[in-house]
Amino acid sequence: MKRDGSNLSYWQDTSQLNDHKDTVAQHDYDVVIIGAGITGITTGLMLQNAGKNCLILEAKTIGFGTTSGTSAHLNTVLDTPYYDLISNFGKENATLAASAAKEALTIISNHVQQFNISCDLEHCNGYMYATNEDEEKELKKIYDAILGVGLQATYVTDIPGPMDMTKAIKFEKQGRFHPLEYLKVLLSQYENAGGVIQEGVAVNEVKEENNRQKITVGDDHHYYADAVVYATHTPPGINLLTFKLAPYRSYVMGFQLKDEHQYPDDLIYDMQEPFHYFRKATYQDQTILLVGGQDHKTGQHPNPEFNFVKLEAFVRKHYAVRAVLYKWSSQYYESTDGLPYIGYFPGKKSKQQFVATGYSGNGMIFGTLSAKIITDLIINGTSEYEQLFSPGRVKPIAGFSNFISENFDVAKHLIIDRLAIDKIDGLADLAKGEGKIIDYDKHTLGVYKDDEGTLFALDPVCKHAGCIVQWNNTEKSWDCPCHGARYAPNGDLLTGPATAGLSVYDLKKDA
Ligand code: FES
Repeated sequence: MKRDGSNLSYWQDTSQLNDHKDTVAQHDYDVVIIGAGITGITTGLMLQNAGKNCLILEAKTIGFGTTSGTSAHLNTVLDTPYYDLISNFGKENATLAASAAKEALTIISNHVQQFNISCDLEHCNGYMYATNEDEEKELKKIYDAILGVGLQATYVTDIPGPMDMTKAIKFEKQGRFHPLEYLKVLLSQYENAGGVIQEGVAVNEVKEENNRQKITVGDDHHYYADAVVYATHTPPGINLLTFKLAPYRSYVMGFQLKDEHQYPDDLIYDMQEPFHYFRKATYQDQTILLVGGQDHKTGQHPNPEFNFVKLEAFVRKHYAVRAVLYKWSSQYYESTDGLPYIGYFPGKKSKQQFVATGYSGNGMIFGTLSAKIITDLIINGTSEYEQLFSPGRVKPIAGFSNFISENFDVAKHLIIDRLAIDKIDGLADLAKGEGKIIDYDKHTLGVYKDDEGTLFALDPVCKHAGCIVQWNNTEKSWDCPCHGARYAPNGDLLTGPATAGLSVYDLKKDA
């Protein structure tokens, strides 16, 4: 199966989610869901089971985006510390967010039980450890806030890993699983219930017409539905959410260890900036240690591949590594106030378009929660989480400084990246497998030379809002530093919010 980068994730390598066959789609549905990751497929299953007739349209392949790139931690202790949520939303709402995360974990557990899914789901503890006084103070704030929102945590004197620590806390009832093995069964349940899915079908337009949603794919092919759900990780085009989301990349590596007792049963987090996260994964008797971290804003690292070097060095400092088996990176979106945007798509005329985005590092939990919220909104017209996660929420204080700094960051990339272009004398200077933004013969070009020496040249101006894309030397992609659109070396669109690929030059003709 494919994903949105050239590195193979452990999940892709070990999943059987490869042999899916599309069924023929009709033209009329109750709900069309755009995107076949954990959000889209879980939503489809829930709606189908609630009596709705659904069509899932996936532009690429099932699990193409972050569902194949996640580290698949299942946390109720979220990436956004609860003290931030208390400060931004109040204690009652932060407690509701904790309940929502617990409910999402329960939904996953129930699916695993109900459908007898072999996806290595394990309920386990989470540990967070400090290594100095500053981190200890931060840990105390995190600990107090966890208790404050009604979750359990305790100070412990030991953690299930060889890292040195000064203080640590343990929180119970977390989890981990194999996301694609889980998704595979959800998908077959969805199809058994009558749901239809089409891969390789990109949606070009969604328009409201006579109280229904007209979905256009290709040049002139239409589907009609009462409701549309954007389960696309970030919604396409320029809309009210564009300025409230910031794209990040995170790096994950899979290690075989010399000492099998070193594989931790639990989830572990340090408190570095950015933090590292640890878990084990087991598939058909092979166990590996997954360690992630090195997060940075998308398109804003001069040498993404180097993050693996640093991550590996960090792991080797603590563990006896026998072999490095996997390395891959993946994308996530931060919201301005620490909670995702799930519900009615803001700025749309009717309440028949839905969106789910801004999951931070908790995609499996919030993807599942989105399915629950959107299903409740479509079936019952209401959800207990509707207000808290509303994409249209207006919070003049919460997240305002993040909003300003993220958008200043975008403005900076719109202007400065156009000035900081490398100059090279000839295209022969480019090594095989390398891409670069260059000033060549008075033209700014993105150039990529593949392993056979074939040269691709393209216009590096992002088709979303005009920032200059940057070369990602590990995933072999052009990444936009503004809102995270990503393109293949030849300019094809990998992931939104852009809706078209980069313009390509025909080198012979345009010379
Ligand atoms: Fe918005 Fe590129 S993703 S300008």
